[in-house]
Amino acid sequence: MGEGVRYPEMMTAHASPFSDSSPAPGFYAARLSRPGAVLAPMAGYSDAPMRQLAAEQGALWTVSEMISARGLVLGGDTEKLNLGRPYAGEQGRVVQLFGAEPELLAAAVARAEAWFVPAAIDLNMGCPVPKIRGKGGACLLQTPEVAFELVGAMRAATALDVSAKIRLGWDTDRSVEVAQGLEAAGVSLITVHGRTSRQRYTGEADWDAIARVAASVSVPVVGSGDIQDAQTARQRQQDSGVAAVMIGRGSVGNPWIFRALAEGQDSGERPSAQARAQTALRHAELQTQFYNDDTGRLTLRPLRKVLPRYLPDYPELHADLTQVITVADVGRVLAPLLIPLPDSLADLLPQGGAVQTGAVSRASTEYAGSYP
Ligand SMILES: Cc1cc2nc3c(=O)[nH]c(=O)nc-3n(C[C@H](O)[C@H](O)[C@H](O)COP(=O)(O)O)c2cc1C
Repeated sequence: MGEGVRYPEMMTAHASPFSDSSPAPGFYAARLSRPGAVLAPMAGYSDAPMRQLAAEQGALWTVSEMISARGLVLGGDTEKLNLGRPYAGEQGRVVQLFGAEPELLAAAVARAEAWFVPAAIDLNMGCPVPKIRGKGGACLLQTPEVAFELVGAMRAATALDVSAKIRLGWDTDRSVEVAQGLEAAGVSLITVHGRTSRQRYTGEADWDAIARVAASVSVPVVGSGDIQDAQTARQRQQDSGVAAVMIGRGSVGNPWIFRALAEGQDSGERPSAQARAQTALRHAELQTQFYNDDTGRLTLRPLRKVLPRYLPDYPELHADLTQVITVADVGRVLAPLLIPLPDSLADLLPQGGAVQTGAVSRASTEYAGSYP
């Protein structure tokens, strides 16, 4: 994946501080020189712990949840804003901003760069949520000239790559026209979610429309919409000619999809239930560490919708997973899967089904009791 991608001049427009003659490739160009897929920005999901798990599995880059430019600039001391704050050592994370006023966007870019160590800055042009609409997001698809102005202001405020993420249009497909305008305004990359704003998340993403955008501009285009497995990702990329695919909902509880695409595997098999349970538990631990809340009382709540996604084949655990409060609770619920059993006993367990045999139940209670 990523092979044969052309890197137009625009991608390398920012001069390297180390050399006058050979400008450093922009972030996106450098990342697209290797295979893999991108973690989508998802409000309520693509926070630091999810990004960390995706990055560890080889995601090309990750994108933050969208951050209001107005909130960032006028919101007082938001340096600790969890939406933008990186986890320790985070690299390759794009910060996504939304807004509609050039001065605010420019100031937000400068602030995001100073506070959040982004690898690049992305403009949200796709969010259809009404409260966002009036201030930017997909609203910009109705007035693309405003978006072009925003991109100009953002580029003037940073030497980092500036990109934009669009939908096909507001209610009809204007994606080629919008993408060409964005390219002229100087974006380094365009991501296209293959639905109109009116469609929200209904129907199917239109990958033919994404392909038309990819063919109409020379900056790299990333395609987004309805990719649930590595095989489909590879097929979509090949058929549409995009530089990479972006994966959102299909990566919730499944960071391994990035490993499969980074390493070119096609088996479609997920890791063992034990490995998935371990990662679910680790996700909970990262969550409490990042939000710095030892009790996890508040911070595990957002994870309740995520944890069952690690174990779709264990529906009997889902009700308990959606009620966890602490990391210890997660350990307790997952204990039947976390305990490494000797092969002789593991063979007796039903495959992918209920695991509450008497022996396992007793052992899990002991394990849960010893969990810190
Ligand atoms: C819960 C949720 C939150 C989202 N938040 C954002 C966002 O903050 N910014 C953005 O550009 N797109 C956002 N999206 C759109 C996704 O990035 C992606 O384009 C879309 O979900 C289609 O891809 P998928 O089928 O792989 O999920 C969100 C999608 C979902 C489901």
